[in-house]
Order: sequence, then C-alpha cells, then structure tokens
Amino acid sequence: MTTAPELVKQAKQAVGKQAAQWVESGMVVGLGTGSTAAFMIQFLGERLQRGELQQVRGIPTSFQAMVLARQAGIPLTTLDEVSEIDLAIDGADEVDPQKNLIKGGGAAHTREKIVDGLAKEFIVVVDGSKLVAHLGSTFPVPVEVLPLAIVPVMRALEQLGGEPEIRMAVKKDGPVITDQGNMVVDVKFAEIPDPASLEMHINNIPGVLENGLFVGLAGRVLVGEVTDGQPQVR
Ligand code: 5RP
Repeated sequence: MTTAPELVKQAKQAVGKQAAQWVESGMVVGLGTGSTAAFMIQFLGERLQRGELQQVRGIPTSFQAMVLARQAGIPLTTLDEVSEIDLAIDGADEVDPQKNLIKGGGAAHTREKIVDGLAKEFIVVVDGSKLVAHLGSTFPVPVEVLPLAIVPVMRALEQLGGEPEIRMAVKKDGPVITDQGNMVVDVKFAEIPDPASLEMHINNIPGVLENGLFVGLAGRVLVGEVTDGQPQVR
C-alpha cells in the first residue's frame, strides 16, 4: 500500500489527472473537495486552457473547490442554472467493497452529497489507503450540526452507539466551521453493520444538517497507487 506522504501525493496526482480525462465538451461537472479533487480541478483547467474541451461548466462542492476552479480557469455555474449534472468527481476518506463511502474529512460533505448525488455519474478518486473492508474502521463519521443544537445532537449520537467529538481547527483555538456556518462532530462507531440505516438515523436527529455516509451514490472508483516508483491508476 502507498503510505509515505510523497508517494500518496503522487498517487492522488495520478488519479486526479486520469479523472480529468473523463470530462467531455459540453458537460456540467461537479467539482469535489480535498487534495485529490484539487489535482483533478488543476488538470481539468489545463485541458480547458489547451483547448481540448469546450463549454464545460463546473459546480463546486465547497469554497475551496470554487477558488481552485477559478484559479484553474474553469467556468462555474450553480444548481439554479442547470437541469442536470453530467458527472461529479470527488474524493473520499473511506471506500468499502460495495462502494459506500465516508466523506467529510474536509467538512464539505453536505454540499458534496447534494452535488455528487445529483450527478448522472459520480466518479470517486482515492489513493489506495482509502480502501477499507468496513466503513468506520479508519475514519469517524463526520456530522454537520447547527451550533445551537450541538449538545442535544451529541447526546443523541451517543444513544446511537457513537463516540462524538467536536472537530477543532488545527490550532485547537476553536471549532471547525463549515461553508454553511455550522460545526462538525466526528463520530467514532465500533462497527457500522448497516451504513444506510445509520445514515438515515443520524440525519433524523433534529439539528443535524447532513452526515458523511454516502450509501449507493458512487459509480466508478478510480484508485491511485505507486508501484515500483511508478504512479498507476486502477
Ligand atoms: C471533503 C472530502 C474529501 O473528498 C475527502 O476528505 C478526501 O480528501 P483527500 O482527497 O484530501 O484525501 O470528503 O469533505
């Protein structure tokens, strides 16, 4: 498995580049969030600048994706202005053998679920370290919560069998705040035997906006690895 940081970066770059090749002229493309999706945005921008593609419009899943897309020269649109999204390309924090995902490591899972879920095809781009046998084994489930409801929501998450923890900013001087102005609770579950049921139960808690379980949404999963020094995508 590719684990050294430089090799992981090369794997993400390779898979981001390959995913950008799936975009065709005229497409409306959901632009994912995170370091792997950032490579895809960069390479998609380069294809547009080379004139390989025409009339492509992006719908960003976060302020991060919006800024990167603008820097890359990708024209943007909104959900108000399009009738459908042809393709979404986005990263993930975990992918299980059924292609169910945990997302939200970048606190963008609410917009990601809207955009990725509306797309006719949703391509997931990951390095090999994201593949797991069972969801929740390496990553907690991120939950976006309205700040006024943080205490009752955390109690309710405990009643569901989870260990919730408010996500703090890197400097630990305050909570992470989402693009919507909310907080994120990361919930560790000993096991997640039924991801679809857990996704529904978490979202039924008043004050929860969305959680990072993506069940049955992913289509193709592109996996980047570095083998014998060579970045590859499978
Ligand atoms: C953001 C996400 C990201 O797609 C996920 O965290 C993967 O990020 P990276 O490509 O940097 O590993 O869900 O909310």
